[in-house]
Amino acid sequence: MKERDSLKIDENGHLTVGGCDVVRLRERYGTPLYILDEADVRERAAAYRAALSAYAGESLVLYASKALSCLAIYEIADEEGLGADVVSGGELYTALEAGMPADKLYFHGNNKTPKEIEEGLRAGVHAFVSDTPSELSLIDALAREAGKKAPVMLRLNPGIEAHTHRFIQTARVDSKFGFSMDDGAALAAVEQALSLPNLQFLGIHCHIGSQIFELKPYGLSIRRMADFMRLLADKGIEVRELNLGGGFGVTYTAADKPLSPQACAAFVVKEVTDALTKRQLRLPKLLIEPGRSIVGEAGVTLYTAGAVKEIKGVKTYVSVDGGMFDNPRYALYQAEYEAVPADRMREAPTETVTLAGKCCESGDMLVIDAKMPKLRRGDLVAVLTTGAYNYSMASHYNRNLVPPTVLVRDGCAQYIVRPEGYLDLTAKDERLQKKKEKL
Ligand code: LLP
Repeated sequence: MKERDSLKIDENGHLTVGGCDVVRLRERYGTPLYILDEADVRERAAAYRAALSAYAGESLVLYASKALSCLAIYEIADEEGLGADVVSGGELYTALEAGMPADKLYFHGNNKTPKEIEEGLRAGVHAFVSDTPSELSLIDALAREAGKKAPVMLRLNPGIEAHTHRFIQTARVDSKFGFSMDDGAALAAVEQALSLPNLQFLGIHCHIGSQIFELKPYGLSIRRMADFMRLLADKGIEVRELNLGGGFGVTYTAADKPLSPQACAAFVVKEVTDALTKRQLRLPKLLIEPGRSIVGEAGVTLYTAGAVKEIKGVKTYVSVDGGMFDNPRYALYQAEYEAVPADRMREAPTETVTLAGKCCESGDMLVIDAKMPKLRRGDLVAVLTTGAYNYSMASHYNRNLVPPTVLVRDGCAQYIVRPEGYLDLTAKDERLQKKKEKL
């Protein structure tokens, strides 16, 4: 592990996160436990905002809240001057509850339900980002009923392959996302949006994938978007907002070499400015939507080691008290993580072990081939970079409880998501009834 502002090793050889000793955190909050470093989140959010504000036009960083959605994270995003990208009625509700202004919310999703669209209209979101003709018609119809004009942006698919896992690539030609830019679908969608009386066409959006380290695919997509804007300008159509999505990578293991938020945002600003100036286009409002790169590295999950199973000559499994119910990313994407012996950080690794989860599922693993000192039942293990797409993708599989989240800063901690109890598991269950409803 590389020490950094948020992660340090104290004089007892304990890992500290945001100045809090993980041994103390376990005593106070138990395991499994999600820990989120507040200063780290704020710094990254502020760095994106500062770098984007070098753009000569208007700009806004949207926090892609699918990465981690709970009241406190929207409060932080709001305080740092960010808006948010929401993709469901639930994310919209949470953002509004947290006090985010609706005018800084962009409502995404490839299949928003009529109820979600109504909720977005009622709240007055800044824009619906849409990528199907039938959804545009639906938004138009619901806006008419609500007596409103719905602002829309169109999600386009620039057909660019970023080097990332197939399931998190989103802009290949064969994708469920975005109007294709190759077959005329994008232009037809703009014309449709302009023709529908209850829609207001604001601009265009693209998102080329996630956990991307190279800037080149962003440069390519920016130029494709700029070409398209030129085509629209020739038809007298103005693009007021240009949203380039998120996807900037983070460090999960030593092999990952991400660029800083500053570098990513500065690249976008420069490429957009150059591409648009070259095509003699006015600078629209510029948006980016980082999620993982704001919260990912700020998160650490703390586990207690339990069963140790040594299969002679094959492998040693150390099972922890969490698993795919708090982090499904190995099971879904064979994602790699770094694990550390959180209360024995100065001990040299002597073994290679596989950290397994406690679910009844062979694929329930957290880290394959982790280098560790000899682990015993009761040892504290931390998995790093779990701030994004862990809590937000957690489940109750095997009726496990989703761990609570504590926010840490300057040696102090608070819950931002409280612990669940067994009562929560049965709270919405109904017992068998003698008579069922006749339908
Ligand atoms: N904007 C849009 C339209 C997106 O679809 C996404 C992510 C983002 C922004 C934020 O991307 P980020 O900056 O976080 O990479 N569950 C997967 C990741 C799915 C990402 C989906 N869209 C994972 O655990 O790796």
